[in-house]
Amino acid sequence: MAKEVSNGGNHVSTKPPPEPSPLRRAKFFQANMRILVTGGAGFIGSHLVDKLMENEKNEVIVVDNYFTGSKDNLRQWFGHPRFELIRHGWYSLQFHQSKEILAYHLIRILLTSTSEVYGDPLVHPQTEDYWGNVNPIGVRSCYDEGKRVAETLMFDYHRQHGIEIRIARIFNTYGPRMNIDDGRVVSNFLAQAIRDEPVTVQLPGTQTRSFCYVSDMVDGLIRLMEGENTGPINIGNPGEFTMLELAETVKEMINPDVKIVTVENTPDDPRQRKPDITKTKELLGWEPKIKLRDGIPLMEEDFRKRLGILKKN
Ligand SMILES: NC(=O)c1ccc[n+]([C@@H]2O[C@H](COP(=O)([O-])OP(=O)(O)OC[C@H]3O[C@@H](n4cnc5c(N)ncnc54)[C@H](O)[C@@H]3O)[C@@H](O)[C@H]2O)c1
Repeated sequence: MAKEVSNGGNHVSTKPPPEPSPLRRAKFFQANMRILVTGGAGFIGSHLVDKLMENEKNEVIVVDNYFTGSKDNLRQWFGHPRFELIRHGWYSLQFHQSKEILAYHLIRILLTSTSEVYGDPLVHPQTEDYWGNVNPIGVRSCYDEGKRVAETLMFDYHRQHGIEIRIARIFNTYGPRMNIDDGRVVSNFLAQAIRDEPVTVQLPGTQTRSFCYVSDMVDGLIRLMEGENTGPINIGNPGEFTMLELAETVKEMINPDVKIVTVENTPDDPRQRKPDITKTKELLGWEPKIKLRDGIPLMEEDFRKRLGILKKN
């Protein structure tokens, strides 16, 4: 049976979705589990590890090459009998070559994809059946197209080998342990305001993003892994802010004396981003709980500690 999907207003026919794998209903989460978190020393990964470690049935192994992550994010688990940290690079090629992984039929794999697969979207808010509007040769393309091809490969393995997959399309996430100078907008603005440096809004400033607090994100990812739906599914907070609004909020909450300045933008910056989470609510029973104004102070505390800058009275 062909299914009609919307793609920026063009209606096209697609093949039906793959048959559910026989492993779909396996009782993964009632058993003792060994969970591998690649990139677990990073921002989202380390919060995921914290949550997984709360369950005494879980044994958690982290593989990370510390490219952008840090051991400090996992320090609380060092020496714990259910935790193991391995310094190692993980590459998709390894997965292709790992016949043992394919032969191991009790695995379920989560891909943390991204809202960037929608590119500069022509559909707003973005629903999962929108195919996106991505420049394949732009400066941002390696990330966007990399995630798109990762989704493709996940589905090929699912169809051809019955591998149990889950795909989350993560929208902007923020919170403690974010890399301070990684250039993401929330960390940028917060660090600038704390350091008393001008907050730099890229022009035109009316471009929008939606910001999900990290504990909500982790809750969504775990629900996706526990449920029966492969995704792709949007996980993000539908509260939408322009970059100028975000800068004003950070200024008001963190440093009312800080200046806000505008700077040139990078090419292909999406004009708007907001997840449609209808499917997420329906299939995962998930929606975000933490509002931006409640999340910013939690992140500020962590950033001040790491930057060694106390709040002025
Ligand atoms: N944070 C967001 O807003 C956001 C939005 C969309 C998607 N995502 C996706 O979520 C995932 C986690 O993002 P994050 O914000 O925590 O990023 P992060 O940079 O904090 O974490 C990534 C971790 O992966 C490690 N890593 C990178 N390459 C590796 C390799 N080859 N082998 C082993 N380890 C490697 C890094 O050292 C780091 O610890 C990423 O896949 C990212 O694309 C994040």
